[in-house]
Amino acid sequence: MKGPNRKPRPVRSDRTRAVRGAAEHTSGPLSTPIVRSATFAFESLDDMNAAQDLGRDGAYYQRVGHPTLRACEKHLAALDGAEDALLFSSGAAAIGSVFLAHLKSGDHVIALEQCYGGTHDLLNWGAGHFGWSVDFVDARAPETWAQAFRPNTRLLHIESPTNPLTVIVDIAEAAKLAHARGALLSIDNTFASPVGQHAIALGADVVEYSATKSIGGHGDLLAGAVTGSSAVIDLVWKVRKVFGPIPDPELAWQIERSLKTLPLRVEAQNANALELATRLARHAGVRQVSYPGLASHPGHAIAVRQMTHGFGGVVAIDVAGGAEAARATIEALELVHHAPSLGGIESLASLPAFTSHIQLGAAGRAKAGISEGLIRLSVGIEDVDDLWQDLEQALAKAALRV
Ligand SMILES: Cc1ncc(COP(=O)(O)O)c(C=O)c1O
Repeated sequence: MKGPNRKPRPVRSDRTRAVRGAAEHTSGPLSTPIVRSATFAFESLDDMNAAQDLGRDGAYYQRVGHPTLRACEKHLAALDGAEDALLFSSGAAAIGSVFLAHLKSGDHVIALEQCYGGTHDLLNWGAGHFGWSVDFVDARAPETWAQAFRPNTRLLHIESPTNPLTVIVDIAEAAKLAHARGALLSIDNTFASPVGQHAIALGADVVEYSATKSIGGHGDLLAGAVTGSSAVIDLVWKVRKVFGPIPDPELAWQIERSLKTLPLRVEAQNANALELATRLARHAGVRQVSYPGLASHPGHAIAVRQMTHGFGGVVAIDVAGGAEAARATIEALELVHHAPSLGGIESLASLPAFTSHIQLGAAGRAKAGISEGLIRLSVGIEDVDDLWQDLEQALAKAALRV
């Protein structure tokens, strides 16, 4: 029903919102048309100015606003429970744009020792280039974070579960801490995904995604996204407009298409991950398993409270035999690929000390608790018994080699 008597829309479930997005249209194409045009033509200067004034909602010039990108952004915002969203050409560009939007020379930012290695690099590099200052705090000791705040702290930037150790941060508590000190809470929600954790509802002000991971979900695209209030997205949009890290319309269409199956993929990956983590925890060749779905995980109770559809697709394992055994294990895998990414339908294994966290150096990794024997397993949607068989045979071969 249209018009003033239209009933308020019910809050729909993640699966419905993933398929339908904002679901404003009831006629026309079901799939967003790919408008393959970087620029748009106008009858008059007034018309052009009007389109320009609409900014990201307008169809004027692709770097400013584009209809195919906008459709995907609205779809993602609806799924994430956010007022607005923006697409980027990579997750790194999304995170970098949030920092550039909120940090000026002289400002201070607090981030986790355990956050993604590229984010460490970005924050340290930005401190030298743009004159902000950064302190890293231990995700495992939130009671120490309050001391890190200064009068000029603008952002607390977190991840949960962290990469790769799956440390769980209480997002609502982190938001309270940041807000009490006049700072915003920024969260890289890549590991949980927009359906695995509703970060905005938990109190986050700005949320970033590497859409390369579960949003894209098939290992075939590189992209990023930011979600938040309209006011926050205004600031981030300005950065995107001036620096230009924007995907093309085909990529935006591919991301929107992938959003529709995100809950199904995430649920299947999370169920497989829980089963493998449970079996690995009983395996003699494995020293320790970090997975928030296990009751033995220190963050399990918080994860139960704040994660939805399971506990994520990443399982971190420390194998008995250390670095050499870890290397032998991933080289012996036959079904699981040895590759540096996560969140997709194909299971992947990597050694974070040599991939995602190589930039931290040995001392930085020791501080963050990332050993050279740590294997990060990103669990896909294959049959769980086939995955288990592969892991078992690889662990057995590794035990013979070391
Ligand atoms: C948690 C997390 N955030 C951000 C990124 C960066 O994303 P992208 O590679 O899409 O730039 C990654 C990449 O591995 C990641 O794991």
